[in-house]
Amino acid sequence: MKTLAIETSCDDTSLSVVSYNDGNFVVEKLISFAQIDLHAPYGGVVPELANRSHTDKIIRLLEELGGNDLKDEIDFISVTAYPGLPGALVVGVTTATMLGRMRNKPVVEVNHIMWHVFSILPDRNIDILHTPYICMTVSGGHNDIYLVGKIEVDGENKRSEGSLKRNDPQRSEDQWRWAAWATDDSRHKRNHLAIGESISVGNYSVKKIGQTLDDAAGEAFDKVSRMLWGPNPGGVRISELAKKWTIDERVDLRASFLAAEEFNFSFSGLKSQVHYLLGKYAETGVVVDDQLKANIAYMFQEEVAHVLAKKLVHAAEHYKAKTISLAGWVSANLRIRERVTELLEKTQQTPIPLLTPAKFVYCTDNAAMIGTAGLLMRNEVL
Ligand code: KG4
Ligand code: ZN
Repeated sequence: MKTLAIETSCDDTSLSVVSYNDGNFVVEKLISFAQIDLHAPYGGVVPELANRSHTDKIIRLLEELGGNDLKDEIDFISVTAYPGLPGALVVGVTTATMLGRMRNKPVVEVNHIMWHVFSILPDRNIDILHTPYICMTVSGGHNDIYLVGKIEVDGENKRSEGSLKRNDPQRSEDQWRWAAWATDDSRHKRNHLAIGESISVGNYSVKKIGQTLDDAAGEAFDKVSRMLWGPNPGGVRISELAKKWTIDERVDLRASFLAAEEFNFSFSGLKSQVHYLLGKYAETGVVVDDQLKANIAYMFQEEVAHVLAKKLVHAAEHYKAKTISLAGWVSANLRIRERVTELLEKTQQTPIPLLTPAKFVYCTDNAAMIGTAGLLMRNEVL
């Protein structure tokens, strides 16, 4: 089974062809256009510019990917439908719907956050995923913890009403579309899951068990980077310059919220501490040179990593997870991966290895993961 996948939820126009065969998810093609330079002068994503750039690029990328010939290659189309910038999503969804209608291919609408949850699968085999599975998604716009279980058809965890088995003889292509949107997935839930709510992705149920109560970790990285050096790229700059740190008593930052609220977290306190620290230096005449900035970057990264590791490992222990992963662009941060691994090794007798996406590019927003989630939704026997 093979899908053409389309992602336009924010500032990346990305297209991919992903296949599923014998348990393997293979990313056969992946091309993307990142709008970073377009938004850089404004210090953040400008929705109108993003929408226009998606419109400008999507057909060209489609041509590059194979154009008309794709119709013989693919079985269906997967597209990010929510959540994201409304005008940006419309570009992808309209393109997918038009192609689907013209080429008589079903369209599967995928939730952006859900594909981060399954982003450990591209270029890997489904065998790596055992449930209960705990995933922490960490990026600029979201930072959550999800518990993933397998939906048993006749077991306790019944398949949601309205969803159809793949080989159901009564199932037409039209029903299919609705099967992908199981009945419990209301429009509100597809856009935003509250703590304790779940959504189905094929034969998996994904439940949100924790979230940041204010800034996402990536957002905090960006804001602290801006305080130290001006405009983005935040996270990457902090992680690079943190490598130059030296022990410095002047930098005293403490993570908060470690014991409270179980699996929720908060980063705005830590971000404010950096702000106050810089204020204190200004008052007392401390020169904030490159070395001091590197030391602040290091301490900040350590404390964020400490919170993420603690909450992820706590959730994994609580739910006796058999698979544990970190996903989203911040998961590209090697120090954060290291802290989680250290803590897993310290707390578990037989440590379960931390899984991250097979390639760095799968940490970012890209269509390979939309295709993977689409295949999971379509191929409900998985
Ligand atoms: O996944 P993404 O594009 O955002 C959303 O979909 O919301 O993630 C972007 C975020 C930015 O906040 C960026 O600073 C952060 O990921 N980031 C990092 C690193 N690389 C990117 N944060 C920490 N360390 C990194 N190496
Ligand atoms: Zn994302």
